[in-house]
Amino acid sequence: MMHYKRYQHWNRKGDVFVVCVDEETTPIGLVCGNSGYNHKRTKPKLFYLLFLCLISFSFFLAPQLFTSHHKFSLLYSFSSEEGGLVSKSDFNACSSVSNGSICCERSSIRSDVCVMKGDVRMDSASSRITLYRNNGHENGEVLRHEKIRPYTRKWEKNVMDTVDELDLVVKGEHSRIHQKCDVKHDVPAVFFSTGGYTGNLYHEFNDGLLPLYITSQQFNKKVVFVILEYHAWWIMKYENVLSHLTEYPIIDFSRDKRTHCFPEAIVGLRIHDELTVNSSLMGNDKTIRDFRDLLDRAYLPRIRSLIQDEERDARMNMEKHVSLPSSETKMDEKQNLKKPKVVIIARNDSRAIMNEDSLVKLIEDVGFHVEVLRPQRTTELASIYRVLNSSDVMIGVHGAAMTHFLFMRPGSVFIQIIPLGTDWAAGTYYGEPAVKLGLKYIGYKILPKESSLYDEYDKNDPVLTDPNSVNDRGWEFTKKIYLDRQNVRLNLGRFSKRLLRAYYHSVANESLRFRHQSQ
Ligand SMILES: *[C@@H]1O[C@H](CO)[C@@H](O)[C@H](O)[C@H]1NC(C)=O
Ligand SMILES: *[C@@H]1O[C@H](CO)[C@@H](O)[C@H](O)[C@H]1NC(C)=O
Ligand SMILES: *[C@@H]1O[C@H](CO)[C@@H](O)[C@H](O)[C@H]1NC(C)=O
Ligand SMILES: *[C@@H]1O[C@H](CO)[C@@H](O)[C@H](O)[C@H]1NC(C)=O
Ligand SMILES: *[C@@H]1O[C@H](CO)[C@@H](O)[C@H](O)[C@H]1NC(C)=O
Repeated sequence: MMHYKRYQHWNRKGDVFVVCVDEETTPIGLVCGNSGYNHKRTKPKLFYLLFLCLISFSFFLAPQLFTSHHKFSLLYSFSSEEGGLVSKSDFNACSSVSNGSICCERSSIRSDVCVMKGDVRMDSASSRITLYRNNGHENGEVLRHEKIRPYTRKWEKNVMDTVDELDLVVKGEHSRIHQKCDVKHDVPAVFFSTGGYTGNLYHEFNDGLLPLYITSQQFNKKVVFVILEYHAWWIMKYENVLSHLTEYPIIDFSRDKRTHCFPEAIVGLRIHDELTVNSSLMGNDKTIRDFRDLLDRAYLPRIRSLIQDEERDARMNMEKHVSLPSSETKMDEKQNLKKPKVVIIARNDSRAIMNEDSLVKLIEDVGFHVEVLRPQRTTELASIYRVLNSSDVMIGVHGAAMTHFLFMRPGSVFIQIIPLGTDWAAGTYYGEPAVKLGLKYIGYKILPKESSLYDEYDKNDPVLTDPNSVNDRGWEFTKKIYLDRQNVRLNLGRFSKRLLRAYYHSVANESLRFRHQSQ
């Protein structure tokens, strides 16, 4: 959860992130909140935002309409102020580095990437990667030396310090006799770390898998991954996905002491923005949807075998128990199959939905079939993918588990419940990226009364009335008050409006699809 540190880091940049909330009290039914961390509300802007909200809530809005507006602009305004999360001028500047040279891209605030081409040899004992080149000199002098920590959170010094630093060195080719190749590869290597915040789902996708996709998909699996801070569990958890990015065995950098030689090494991963792939930075127009397609291909075999197992178990059960399931339950199942499906991603530590049972009833009353998922650290991602890929709506309280929106089909609905004090993060980390994937995103910003903090604080306490001022006091306060100790008790009347909207969206889409198929 450490990524919330960025609250402190970026929230003073003074931009506006918008969450649209329909308030029962206002005549037109919609209010757009400036829910970032400052409260400057100039009139023309507010009017513009109001207008935006109005159009974005029409049922049949094409998802592209969302993305073309600059309402989610905090990161971008930040980048224009400080030289860029992604610098336009030299993005992938090193992709055309010539043989025998090294090139480092260091202008992004998120990560450094160095590319070495030619005779590249790795030596993990000295944390060194050497490029030997013909320079006419006989001695072993170092012609160039770069240092790099191959992790994508460059601006967070504390976590970067936990990632090993690599020395990238260029030497004359004659000195290479001192370092013989034990393993010779004829495809490039990509060096990266699975340390840092790995262990948290958001970070595993945002800092790891998506940057790995961005950096390596162009090689069509003809690439070797060399991993620092290697974890066997990470390889197991993501092996379905990894096998669609590389067809070679993965190297554990610190344990493999052999000298591996490569014709090219990319050290560090490129990263675009929160949980996304920006096609204009890809060279081959790949988007976040292509990443999702890869997930789909990656999980398909496993899901098929899960289904086969279930069918076999069901047949065995039928043979064992002569009493067949009553025709009534069969009818129920059939009807459920026809209904659009909602998945609630539930947390059971902090930020739980206290009236979850009533919420489930409400969702059923609206006309959905409901499934409640409680992902644990050990839950297999393929089985979560299976549930979400067949759902029309995902509902959850803001937190790392919202990363699962990546498993929803484009065109489906994502309702994020936003507890007090988490607006900015909810929008930046999940709302905005979900829109880029093509989901219909609904941010449900709770009222103070819907927060468990309402029972603990005076009604006029800034914790309830002015979360921004509390967040401004520092990350410890955000974490202690809003993240670790807050549950939500949904006002179901208020929430049902979002559900209805989601229902109409799902049903309309279903009938659209149906008409399409029957043509
Ligand atoms: C993609 O990156 C370009 C160049 O940095 C930027 O201008 C553009 O706004 C980005 N697109 C999106 C959708 O973020
Ligand atoms: C690149 O340089 C290395 C050594 O400097 C050489 O062995 C290799 O053949 C070169 N490759 C190409 C494609 O020129
Ligand atoms: C996900 O759903 C789509 C559309 O229903 C289907 O074509 C695809 O095979 C599903 N993917 C997996 C991995 O089950
Ligand atoms: C959350 O639920 C799971 C299973 O339902 C249980 O094993 C776990 O102990 C629960 N955690 C907390 C903090 O209640
Ligand atoms: C319906 O869903 C598809 C994806 O399954 C999406 O591309 C499309 O935009 C959706 N249409 C509407 C009207 O929401």
